[in-house]
Amino acid sequence: MAAFLFGLLLFAMQSPPVPSSPARSSSAASSLLPPPPPPSADDGGAAGRPRAPPPRRPRPSHHHPPNGTAQRLPDIVIIGVRKGGTRALIEMLSLHGGVAAAESEVHFFDWESHFQRGLPWYLSQMPYALPGQLTVEKTPAYFTSSKVPPRLRRVNPGAKLLLILRDPTERVLSDYTQVYHNRLLKHKRHRPIEEVLVLKDGGVNLGYKALNRSLYYVHMQNWLRHFPRDSIHVVDGDALIRDPFPEVQRVERFLRLEPQIDAGNFYFNRTKGFYCLRDRGRERCLHDSKGRAHPRVAPDILHKLYRFFHEPNRRFFELVGRTFDWN
Ligand SMILES: *[C@@H]1O[C@H](CO)[C@@H](O)[C@H](O)[C@H]1NC(C)=O
Ligand SMILES: *[C@@H]1O[C@H](CO)[C@@H](O)[C@H](O)[C@H]1NC(C)=O
Ligand SMILES: *[C@@H]1O[C@H](CO)[C@@H](O)[C@H](O)[C@H]1NC(C)=O
Repeated sequence: MAAFLFGLLLFAMQSPPVPSSPARSSSAASSLLPPPPPPSADDGGAAGRPRAPPPRRPRPSHHHPPNGTAQRLPDIVIIGVRKGGTRALIEMLSLHGGVAAAESEVHFFDWESHFQRGLPWYLSQMPYALPGQLTVEKTPAYFTSSKVPPRLRRVNPGAKLLLILRDPTERVLSDYTQVYHNRLLKHKRHRPIEEVLVLKDGGVNLGYKALNRSLYYVHMQNWLRHFPRDSIHVVDGDALIRDPFPEVQRVERFLRLEPQIDAGNFYFNRTKGFYCLRDRGRERCLHDSKGRAHPRVAPDILHKLYRFFHEPNRRFFELVGRTFDWN
């Protein structure tokens, strides 16, 4: 049953990019949405890996940013995890008037082609923020890339980091599903999930990247070598979907934001089976469809995965001093 999941859509959703707060409050909003540059030929295209939308240029020369705003290094970086609910998290955080969010995934620290463009380019990807607003960017691949933490620390040692995680087995299935759909679109062959997950000798396939991404303690150890524990807040992605408001309040507290988001910002959509957002009177849902159903996985393989993650999970709980309700 867990395998077929009720869609867990928030994660598969194809929502429009998050406009920054100044954009929403400005009549010149459209001037903040210039055409995207051509995609760069770069290092992000490992087989089957989904691409982030190409980053946007800051502004065309004939438009002015809203008065009094500036592009600044992010105060907050949502570092992951892929398929953990990062889009939902940044959308919910954008409900707060004190937050300005970058529109698309920046991939500055993990893609060489972006990193080599240097800090001015990174800054140009940031939203225009009013004085006092916190700037946030999200790139879910940061969490699992070992070169990111030292790079991020060098540039932005005071950043507050948000990491949203969900049950590691569900995350693997969701990851597989996304890659599967991308390959389907490109008319590429894909292997059935059982074949990817389990080796011929019956062991779990450690070489499968999606499985590695769910070894949260491995990646967390790497981050903790460069950032203090108290600069990283872990968001419970499963809880965020079930009941977003309490999780979002925890995030507000961690960021020392004035409590502004309230229960009225969320309403349950029975048709979807998920929460939608009410943003200054405008209703928006985070996903257009029922999302992608996960592949059906034979129960014995599912249980093999649950068992496999038991020890890595325990090590992660120990690292962060908190347990999560994972299989
Ligand atoms: C923004 O600033 C410019 C130059 O200072 C000024 O001409 C313009 O009227 C201002 N626009 C708004 C909306 O305040
Ligand atoms: C998992 O990924 C980490 C970080 O990229 C790497 O150091 C480790 O060797 C990988 N483990 C396996 C079993 O592939
Ligand atoms: C609820 O979800 C359905 C199905 O996705 C959608 O058509 C409808 O517009 C949503 N209603 C509200 C009020 O969000």
